[in-house]
Amino acid sequence: MKQVQELPLTENCHHWRKISEVPWDLQKYWQQRHTIFSYYNEGIYMTHDAWYGVTPEPVANQIAHDLSLIISEDKTTIIDVFAGVGANSIAFALSGRWERVIAVEKDAATLACAQHNASIYGVANSISWILGDNFEYLDALNSSDSSSLEPDLQVNIKSTVVFGSPPWGGPGYRTDEVFDLSTMEPYNLTKMHESYRMMDHALYLPRTSDLRQIAHLAPEGSKIEVVQYCVEGASKAMVAYLLAEKGAEVEEEKNSNA
Ligand SMILES: C[S@@+](CC[C@H](N)C(=O)[O-])C[C@H]1O[C@@H](n2cnc3c(N)ncnc32)[C@H](O)[C@@H]1O
Repeated sequence: MKQVQELPLTENCHHWRKISEVPWDLQKYWQQRHTIFSYYNEGIYMTHDAWYGVTPEPVANQIAHDLSLIISEDKTTIIDVFAGVGANSIAFALSGRWERVIAVEKDAATLACAQHNASIYGVANSISWILGDNFEYLDALNSSDSSSLEPDLQVNIKSTVVFGSPPWGGPGYRTDEVFDLSTMEPYNLTKMHESYRMMDHALYLPRTSDLRQIAHLAPEGSKIEVVQYCVEGASKAMVAYLLAEKGAEVEEEKNSNA
């Protein structure tokens, strides 16, 4: 896990101009390219898989706006833990709300696309880029010896928020009437919540996700906000806004004194 400057685009990174260049399974997504990234024609790069999971720009901007309202002002850092090709990180940086935006992505080609795309939007230098596994990173931040992390990877978790748009484990989410978040692959809701619970965290989930499973995560007596995000009249996804668990700060205090 390391902070990286400009990674090179690879043969897995594409900017397709004509439909004849686009594999058949991606053509319907490519038709929506200008909704996904309004600057697509300026030279946006994508990997094959990124077309399935990228957050469309209007949704990314609305989430960035909503986070500004929902999250308290003393939170100054946001970590986009599944950065993909950068749509959410770019929106967070453009919002001007955060002192620090950190983008974590485990696939080098995908992260190279994100850095390139952020440069098209003029915000590549406003984002810290980490190549690696976000669970390892969060484990290190949550542990008592987070000082073992490189100085440029350290953050104060009391003033940090996590945003996560994980893979949704294949197309099953489209057909299931109610999507079971306990079977989501490769990371289920419990795994993510366990890792991020010390901080306020917002999770970008399939639109039919089981609300009862999300409700189980509500700290006693508190409410959870869940918002459906729509493009052209159809919901694309929901975001569950979850506050840090009560007592997490105490736990963190204990860890840092240990
Ligand atoms: C649904 S996509 C994210 C899309 C992103 N919001 C965007 O707009 O481009 C999920 C991304 O998470 C990455 N990923 C999967 N597991 C990860 C992990 N453990 N740590 C960091 N990144 C991971 C995948 O490589 C993929 O690019």
